[in-house]
Amino acid sequence: MHLASPDRRRLLLSGLALPMLSACGGGGSANAAPSPAPAPPPALADVPALKAHFATHFKIGMAADPNGYKNAIANPVILRHANSITAENCFKPASLGTSPGVYNWATADELVAFAAANGMVVRGHTLCWHSQTPDWFFTGTAAEVRARLETYIRDVVTHFKGKVACWDVVNECTSDDAGSAYRNSKWLQILGPDYIEIALRAARAADPDVKLFINDYSTEEPAKFARLMTIVARLQANGAPLDGIGHQMHVSTASPTAANVDNALRSVASKGLINHVTELDVSLYNDPGSCFSSKTGCAADITGDPTLLAAALKAQALQYRALFNVFKQHASLQSVTTWGIADNSTWLSGFPTTRGNRPLLFDVTGAAKSAARAITDDAYVP
Ligand code: XIL
Repeated sequence: MHLASPDRRRLLLSGLALPMLSACGGGGSANAAPSPAPAPPPALADVPALKAHFATHFKIGMAADPNGYKNAIANPVILRHANSITAENCFKPASLGTSPGVYNWATADELVAFAAANGMVVRGHTLCWHSQTPDWFFTGTAAEVRARLETYIRDVVTHFKGKVACWDVVNECTSDDAGSAYRNSKWLQILGPDYIEIALRAARAADPDVKLFINDYSTEEPAKFARLMTIVARLQANGAPLDGIGHQMHVSTASPTAANVDNALRSVASKGLINHVTELDVSLYNDPGSCFSSKTGCAADITGDPTLLAAALKAQALQYRALFNVFKQHASLQSVTTWGIADNSTWLSGFPTTRGNRPLLFDVTGAAKSAARAITDDAYVP
């Protein structure tokens, strides 16, 4: 909130002053010695609509489920700024895949209708993942598991055909360890590395036009990115239908460097693939690995300390600016989505530990933060 709170206060005060002036007739009596009226504080316009501001570069997306975008704080923000939406949870197998061949479309269909009514494209997230996927997917023989995956993807992609612009077909398939390119998921254990190609081919068979992505986190870290590109090379050698790479970009104020992001985007484009930034948020905290693996050593909550919070929000604004400056240089980058709408609701309040966080471009009241100003106004000093 760094500068946003005083800004909002001024906006409110200037809004109050107007009716008071007009109620007084707009001026003093003719014979009173006119003292110069104090100059009104400069009106602080909201940041420009992000979808218009970045229209020549990429779409601006936000992630939410219907209960998120219908929230009174978040709703005006997504309507003003986004021309793309990703379902935060209601497109996932745990939500759609009730049991084999039985689907729960209602919430996802509601989101699709909201997007259509408000000029947003839909990013489909996600078809094949090790998380938020019911156990019934993984029972029986490898042939049965493969058939179940193919049937699920066929049914879901067919249901949303023409309504979803792209799919994160496979989510988080890259290993975090140097030993293997592939995450050691149940999909890998049961089907081997071919499961990625099987999923992509099933999606392509159901919809020849939808764009197909692999989506992963920490793609801006060179070692993990190299592993991802090993996977991509095999897919391309086999002629698998892959259109793009989704970079989640759950990042922090301290990392990644602009150079690493630049390299990742450039390398993807050099393989003939589209780039999407799919889940951007900038955490206030720079946690050690132990926080993610065992919730130990996590940075302490700073949201109750105005001094520390202001410093972190300033660093965050600078990080958002650095990232967007790189994003704007890449014609291959067609979509940038934040993982949430405003700081009133973020998955980072529970991950990697329970703690206040403020990772998005709009604050807990829905007002533009320093970060939003920093990416839309080069002259602004956070
Ligand atoms: C998260 C959602 O935001 C949470 O509400 C849910 O409890 C867990 O999943 N990478 C992804 C997203 O690809 O699907 C995750 O979303 C965040 C990390």
